[in-house]
Amino acid sequence: MRLDKFLSQAGIGTRKEVKILIKKGFVSLDDTIIKQVDYDFNPYSTIVKLNDKIIEYQPYYYFVLNKPEGYVSACNDNVYPTVIELIEGYDHVKLSPVGRLDVDTTGTLLITNDGNLHHRLIAPKYHVDKKYYVETDFKIPQDLVLAFKNGIMLDGELTLPGELEIIDDKKAYLTIHQGKFHQVKRMFQNFNLKVLKLDRVSFAFLNHDNLKLGEYRTLTKDEVDGLKKLVESKENNH
Ligand code: URA
Repeated sequence: MRLDKFLSQAGIGTRKEVKILIKKGFVSLDDTIIKQVDYDFNPYSTIVKLNDKIIEYQPYYYFVLNKPEGYVSACNDNVYPTVIELIEGYDHVKLSPVGRLDVDTTGTLLITNDGNLHHRLIAPKYHVDKKYYVETDFKIPQDLVLAFKNGIMLDGELTLPGELEIIDDKKAYLTIHQGKFHQVKRMFQNFNLKVLKLDRVSFAFLNHDNLKLGEYRTLTKDEVDGLKKLVESKENNH
């Protein structure tokens, strides 16, 4: 890996800034000063120091965000601010949201630069559990519990069974295992109910407990390992 890339990915500075540090002789690899900005080395087996301070190699970053309304789940947008703009200080890594929440949907959103895990988590075959809190314009009929369990037609296909738990006339939790475009809103729309509020309570075992809207936290190592195990277990079951 190139030395300048390693340092900028570790959050030391922009590519331009870290090149200056390297050229000035502030950076050593296994205690030898290296002034070549594109010096190629193995980040897993080399001790990198900046002014005697060890810089750990961290190729991947994982965050869970409590997405507020008014932000798009994308890396760039011409109209709205993006969820990536809420994660401060990581301009040096290419973070992206795992899956999409509509601009007016709030709740649990995983954000990472780990492309491999990202793609496996959203692969149509292995979709993980997603639980939503829903508020509708009219009373939710009890029949919907069975209807959602049996699946409903969207895009000419029957949806996978969804678990609906009605908690009040117009309030419910819905757990689904897919991520079709506007899936929850369209499932209710099928029964002439408009979704007025939609909050993703959880994505797999991640939730937004203790996070205010717009707040985020770094995943623990156990949580990252848990997500990897989850996709592996789904892959092994196919
Ligand atoms: N289903 C929707 O309709 N919208 C979302 O944002 C997520 C799921």
